[in-house]
Amino acid sequence: MSMTGLTVPFVDADLDARVRARLDEVEQQLSTVVASDFGFVTETARHLIEAGGKRFRPLLVVLAAEFGDHEAPGVAPVAVVLELTHLATLHHDDVMDEAALRRGAPSANARWDNTIAILTGDYLFAKASDRMVDLGLEAVRIQSQTFARLVEGQIRETLGPSDDDDPLDYYLSVLADKTGSLIATSARLGAKLAGAPAEVEAVVTEYGEKVGVAFQLSDDVLDIASDSDQSGKTPGTDLREGVPTLPVLLAQRSRDPADARLRDLLAKPLVDDDEHAEALKLLRAHPAMDQARAIVQQWADDARATLPSLPDIPARDALAGLCDLVVSRTG
Ligand code: IPE
Ligand code: IPE
Ligand code: MG
Ligand code: MG
Repeated sequence: MSMTGLTVPFVDADLDARVRARLDEVEQQLSTVVASDFGFVTETARHLIEAGGKRFRPLLVVLAAEFGDHEAPGVAPVAVVLELTHLATLHHDDVMDEAALRRGAPSANARWDNTIAILTGDYLFAKASDRMVDLGLEAVRIQSQTFARLVEGQIRETLGPSDDDDPLDYYLSVLADKTGSLIATSARLGAKLAGAPAEVEAVVTEYGEKVGVAFQLSDDVLDIASDSDQSGKTPGTDLREGVPTLPVLLAQRSRDPADARLRDLLAKPLVDDDEHAEALKLLRAHPAMDQARAIVQQWADDARATLPSLPDIPARDALAGLCDLVVSRTG
C-alpha cells in the first residue's frame, strides 16, 4: 500500500484491504469534520489535508486496533483526531520554522500569512478536541497530556540545551517529546479503542515512542539529504533556522581540522543563501550522514525489539515493516 513518500510492505492481502478501507473512512471524516459555515475557514482548514501527507498516525491507529476489535466504532474517529492534532501542530511549526513548503504545497503561512496559519492550527485543534469528547474521558486525558508533552518538546527545542546538558541527549529527549509522544499515543489509542488487552496497549505505546523517534531522526536526515521532490519541504530548513539536528550535532562533534569551515558555518543560523548552500553541500558529503543513518537504524531496531511479545498476527509484521521503511527512506 502506498502513501505519499511511504510504501508500506503488507504481507497479508486481507489486512491490506481492511487498512485501506479504514483509512478511506478516515479521509472522508477528515474532510467533513473541518467544514465550517465560513467558506474561507473550510478552505484554509482543508488546504493541507488535500495536499497529501503520509497519514502515518492514522495508519498506526488502524494497525494497533488489529490487536483488538478492529471494527470498534472509535477507531476511525480517533485516527481523525490524531491526524488533526498533528496537522494543527504542523501549522504552528511552519510559522515557527518560517517554512514555505509543506506536503509539496505552499505552507499555510506562505499561502496566506502567519495569522491565518496560527488560527487555522487552533481551529484544527478545536475540531480534534470536539471529536475526542465522544471517545471517553480516558482518551481525552491521554490526548491532552500528549499534546502538552509535544508542546513542551517544541518549546525545549526553541530554548536549546543549557551548559549542563549533553547536546545530543538533549536533542533526543526533545524528539521523543515533540514527535515520539503523538506517535506513541496513536498506537496506544488505536489499541485502547479497539479494546485490546492492557499489555498490548503498553507494548504498542513503547513501540510507537521508539518508531516515532526513529521517524523524526529520519526526517532530520532527509532535511539535509533530500530535495523537495522527495520530502515536499524545502531542504535545509532546520539549518537555516539554526535548529541543530542529528547530522549537524554529529558534524559539530568532529575534531578533524578539515571540518573547520563546516563547524564555523554551523555555529549560527544560516540565513545567507550562499553560506546555506555551502553548508548543505559539505554536510551531505560528511561522514556524519552515515553515522546519523546508523542511529536511525538503532532506534528502528529498538522499536522492532518490542514486538515479539505481541500476538503473532499480520499487523505485527506490518509494524515490523514500518521499522524498515523508516530506515530505508533515509537511504
Ligand atoms: C512531519 O510529520 C513532522 C515530523 C514529526 C517529522 P510527517 O512526516 O508525518 O508529515 P506528513 O503528515 O507526512 O506531512
Ligand atoms: C515537527 O518538527 C514536529 C512537530 C510539528 C511537533 P520539525 O520542524 O522538525 O518537522 P518538519 O521538518 O517541519 O516536518
Ligand atoms: Mg518544521
Ligand atoms: Mg520545527
